[in-house]
Amino acid sequence: MTDTTNTRSETREMESHAFDVIVIGAGGAGLRAAIEAKGRGLSTALVCKSLLGKAHTVMAEGGAAAALGNVWPEDNWMVHFRDTMRGGKLLNNWRMAEIHAKEAPDRIYELEAWGALFDRTKDGRILQRDFGGHRYARLAHVGDRTGLEMIRTLQQKAVSMGIEVFMECKILELLKDAEGRVSAAVGYWRATGEPVVFTAKAFVLATGGIGRSWKYTTNSWETTGDGHALAFWAGADLIDMECVQFHPTGMVWPLSVRGILVTEGVRGDGGVLRNSEGRRFMFDYIPAMFAAETADSEAEADRWYEDHTNNRRPPELLPRDEVARSINTEVKEGRGSPHGGVFLDIATRRSAEYIRRRLPSMYHQFKELAGVDITAESMEVGPTCHYMMGGVRVDADSEATAVPGLFAAGEVAAGLHGANRLGGNSLSDLLVFGRRAGVGASDFAEGRTGDPSYDRSEMAEVVAQSRAPLARDSGESPYEIQHDLQETMQSLVGIIRTGAELEQAVEEIGKLTERARNLNVEGGPAYNPGWNLATDLPAMLTVSMAVARGGIERKESRGGHTRDDYPAADPELGKVNFVQRLAGGAHQVVAEALAPVRADLAALLEEEAH
Ligand code: FUM
Repeated sequence: MTDTTNTRSETREMESHAFDVIVIGAGGAGLRAAIEAKGRGLSTALVCKSLLGKAHTVMAEGGAAAALGNVWPEDNWMVHFRDTMRGGKLLNNWRMAEIHAKEAPDRIYELEAWGALFDRTKDGRILQRDFGGHRYARLAHVGDRTGLEMIRTLQQKAVSMGIEVFMECKILELLKDAEGRVSAAVGYWRATGEPVVFTAKAFVLATGGIGRSWKYTTNSWETTGDGHALAFWAGADLIDMECVQFHPTGMVWPLSVRGILVTEGVRGDGGVLRNSEGRRFMFDYIPAMFAAETADSEAEADRWYEDHTNNRRPPELLPRDEVARSINTEVKEGRGSPHGGVFLDIATRRSAEYIRRRLPSMYHQFKELAGVDITAESMEVGPTCHYMMGGVRVDADSEATAVPGLFAAGEVAAGLHGANRLGGNSLSDLLVFGRRAGVGASDFAEGRTGDPSYDRSEMAEVVAQSRAPLARDSGESPYEIQHDLQETMQSLVGIIRTGAELEQAVEEIGKLTERARNLNVEGGPAYNPGWNLATDLPAMLTVSMAVARGGIERKESRGGHTRDDYPAADPELGKVNFVQRLAGGAHQVVAEALAPVRADLAALLEEEAH
């Protein structure tokens, strides 16, 4: 397809590409979706902002959760379903939790058949490790490099199938046809700054998370909430944006690497958390967690613990939200490590050989970046922004959003994880729902007639807006806005929030959004990281606003969203999603009731409770 829009002063043809299905984002979910569409015989392309193989998927190091039952034969999809729902504090989309628990094993075996080299049990089956909130050792893994192996395998499969990959391409906006179907994605090449338009019959968003709006995060530079914002601007619903996960263990020192992930696999393989007094403080928090979750009950705290852990696993392997809050309290109360974290000790618990074999990346990471030998010394760790539970609302079976022709999978989509994700559930999420999004998008593309059309002037306007910072003689630096946004989100929309702080955040983000209308960037569009950041800021600001506004509405503490002024869970708020959408150009936040859990699944949850 050829387009003749004049995007700058001269008349020229804009580069364009047409496919049946286009997947935006090339992490695990994007790759898996593209593989499905291509397998259906549709022309399929992947478009990614970074290089193929470089996705946040690699930051799920410890494993992919699937009830294979290789280590604990007692494990099955029903237990996995329950764990996921409980971990998510029942805010989950129960149908997604059911599909995920049922389909994850098949997706793992499929990956194995495509060449993934999982660690093995003594009798040659896929080995599974313990992780927080999972009743049984359930994570299929490859040392502490599981995400990397998954990406490597999927990438090889995708390339061997002939899926076209467009790398280093930033998508600015989605455009619709007269009937409201998504028809085009307009963007630019990061290397040259030249604009490009992709048209397709169906699009899948698989852009990952939003972590770069915080100061300390496991997320790399790409993770600026692009997909969340693209969907929102196009008219899709976002849900539960207040539910952000702070992984309990990121590096805290040296400052230059603060936030980098220290895999939960360290705790899964025997590591324990200690405070400055050498005390395993997690035991001290069990009654407090119990009280917060069941404010109106007098039942025993150890029953709560048993419910959560089957009394088999240490409290370091409680769900992430609970461990992260406990670490935060230790530090706040003056029992932290010298650099503002706590100590993670595996050296006194496992042999050096075991640590180097099971956790090779952690060994090297601390050795190279902090000069710490984790086989002999403790690591200093603290919470770091890691994952977004909230996101684009999708149909559980097809991953369709509210906008025709637009699908979403992986971290950008919401529902499966509720208010808190269990570690390891993201890798299986992206396989299960990446595949389903590929099916959903293919079905839609096959049923769509005629060539996708869109408004050329709208496209020209998007391109012109993106280039405005290059044309101005003066204005604000995008780096200043980014810095101030990260400070705001870290201090006001962090691990513990209050209503007053969230209100202040909304005000600050509003001011930053105003300032961002007047950005100025030196130089031209080619190889210009300042301009690239300027084009990321609209998404970062939109999504940050959504997190803060969702946080104001959810006047309770649930999963990743902790309100100091509402420290307990509110049973009534546990029955609603906070939905955010653009209505007539206005940003709306409304509470909508969760669908009641199907009776047979509700019975499973009841069984657990007793
Ligand atoms: O700790 C980790 O290895 C992270 C895993 C995940 O986020 O699923």
